Amino acid sequence: MLERRWANVGEEWFDDYWINYKRITVKGKDENIKKISSLEEFVKYRKGDVSKIVKRKSVKKIEDCMNNVFIPPIKCQGIKSKLITDIKFIASNVSYEKWVEPFMGSGVVGFNVRPDKAIFADSNPYLIQFYTDIQTNKITPNIVLNYLKEEGTKLLKTDGEHYYVIRERFNKEHNSLDFLFLNRSCFNGMIRFNSKGDFNVPFCRKPNRFAQAYITKIVNQISNIQEIIRFKKYTFKCQSFEQTIKEANKDDLIYCDPPYIGRHVDYFDSWNEEQEILLHNMLTASGIKFILSTWHSNKYRYNKYLDTLWNNLYVLTKEHFYHIGGSEENRNSMLEALVTNFPAQLPEKKSNIIRQGSLFDFIENSHLPSVSSTKEKRITGVKR
Ligand SMILES: C[S@@+](CC[C@H](N)C(=O)[O-])C[C@H]1O[C@@H](n2cnc3c(N)ncnc32)[C@H](O)[C@@H]1O
Repeated sequence: MLERRWANVGEEWFDDYWINYKRITVKGKDENIKKISSLEEFVKYRKGDVSKIVKRKSVKKIEDCMNNVFIPPIKCQGIKSKLITDIKFIASNVSYEKWVEPFMGSGVVGFNVRPDKAIFADSNPYLIQFYTDIQTNKITPNIVLNYLKEEGTKLLKTDGEHYYVIRERFNKEHNSLDFLFLNRSCFNGMIRFNSKGDFNVPFCRKPNRFAQAYITKIVNQISNIQEIIRFKKYTFKCQSFEQTIKEANKDDLIYCDPPYIGRHVDYFDSWNEEQEILLHNMLTASGIKFILSTWHSNKYRYNKYLDTLWNNLYVLTKEHFYHIGGSEENRNSMLEALVTNFPAQLPEKKSNIIRQGSLFDFIENSHLPSVSSTKEKRITGVKR
């Protein structure tokens, strides 16, 4: 388990240590005389507060989690790109055999955590087919490039009408390239199906929707995902969350991001109290470590299930602003919750971490604002 102990000592400490490195001698545990060769020994010698030193490994871990958030080619409602740093950080402090993600959606979480082994599952068959097609090279960056150039030109020539041709074709043939096209040109990047299972999101009108720069961006996302999947043992499965949880083993880590109750109703993506209870019962009975994403509260409401169903677990919260979704409510700022069945912590923001030189296992943290002055609220390790 990672220890996060922040240093609150100034540069003069650092210089002092550097100047005296291996010069001061002290008595070791075995009563032998030894030279001071670590910051910890030095701070102890100067009677400073050792608990404020950060181990370099920990700093690196935090920074690793904050860098390089990869956005996958498919977007979906409730995409957790803004929570990647937090989830990745929590997962980096747990040892596990296999990552199990029963509600993969865009896959942004697992693809950023990048475990060696994983099961990615979802009830939406087109998401699963899309990633399976990348895994089996049925879709490659080059194929996507040519496809988007061709269909993008037709879209431009028909003043957007071609979107509906593709939508109709997708609803008959269910081709992954058409799915990508619709997802990247539909209104708000939504994935929504009517009661017959037909994709029914309208076109997001924009002149030259598939401009060269946009195509390049998507093609790069495809290349990245191909690279991520290539060397890993990943399985993509279209199945219910019940089945996926049954396939998890004791040493795995399950990350669950179910639809939020009362927010989406869709052919492949609906959610009710009964399912929330079933998910809770299966997760808690399994004894397997899990992280659950849910909503905590917004301006109008509080998630009552946190106090009932999910009580007696650990809850961390973080503010998040939703951009996807047509309704006013979906665009409001929302406090997100991460529920775990083990004690977990959120990382500090990178802007607040100032590394003092590269020679020592030490950072200064005198600029860290107090929790109440950040936008991010923490209820670190609070068992509810
Ligand atoms: C909130 S989204 C997941 C978003 C994802 N974490 C991301 O960041 O992109 C919920 C996903 O659960 C899937 N889903 C809904 N009901 C399901 C069920 N009963 N079993 C498995 N997946 C389900 C939906 O298709 C949707 O992709």
